[in-house]
Amino acid sequence: MNMQNPLHMSATHTRPPILVQGAMDVEVETLIAALGKVTVNTFGSWTFWEGELSGYPVVVSRTEIGVANAAAATALAMTHYQPKLIINQGTAGGHDPQLYRGDIVIGESSFNMGSYLTELTPKGEGIHPSRWQNFDMTMYLRENGEVVKHNHFKADPALVAAALSQAPHYTKGNVVKGIIGTGDEWNRELDRINWLHHTFGTAVEEMETSAAALVAEAYKCPFVSIRVLSNTDQHGQDFDPQTAVNCQQFVLRIVQQLINSPK
Ligand code: 5AD
Repeated sequence: MNMQNPLHMSATHTRPPILVQGAMDVEVETLIAALGKVTVNTFGSWTFWEGELSGYPVVVSRTEIGVANAAAATALAMTHYQPKLIINQGTAGGHDPQLYRGDIVIGESSFNMGSYLTELTPKGEGIHPSRWQNFDMTMYLRENGEVVKHNHFKADPALVAAALSQAPHYTKGNVVKGIIGTGDEWNRELDRINWLHHTFGTAVEEMETSAAALVAEAYKCPFVSIRVLSNTDQHGQDFDPQTAVNCQQFVLRIVQQLINSPK
């Protein structure tokens, strides 16, 4: 028993775990390899690796790709594990031209980038994506009986700070704070990428964060998403799976830091 550290004062199984999410195998394998005493559990098509890091319980969740999967996996995690906090992590595509492949974005906020309201336009007058409005209110949550509309979800400030505190140890690129745009989309038209960046301030795009954040918000569970640029058409840089490994190594440092200095 470690009297200095309250996280270490009760039995492992009675302590709420840290949940770390990744969509694809390449985005969870490094995390799983770092865990001790692993038990694998699958609910439906979503798999969880329950283990520990420095004696503290950590669950790694493979959410699978896309918003529906991310929401389902997060809801399952909430009901089965009641995590202390959630770190969503993995790859993303660059929108901000100042960012390069290998850079990491700590998602200060995320939103549903894939929801559009189009203006009534008569037959034959074309399709005008730059006029499409992002729904301000696609993310509904019922809170204390009332429907609350969210246009974005903010990350937990303490988790953002914990992530930033590890930035000096990341050697594969820069670590910045930024806005994450989520949608079942993979955009490669530069004019569209720039339009998304200028309209919504997106640093990166990916396919899970805001869906996981919505479920975390429903349970008031602290949440942050940490995304590495695995590709960016701003600089002609294609998908590099090694970035996913580097991101997990960075996230493992953050998890270790959270275990060493619990709130
Ligand atoms: N656009 C959308 N999703 C991306 N991903 C990586 N790069 C991009 C990108 N440019 C991530 C998604 C999803 C998987 C296909 O890779 O989050 O999980």
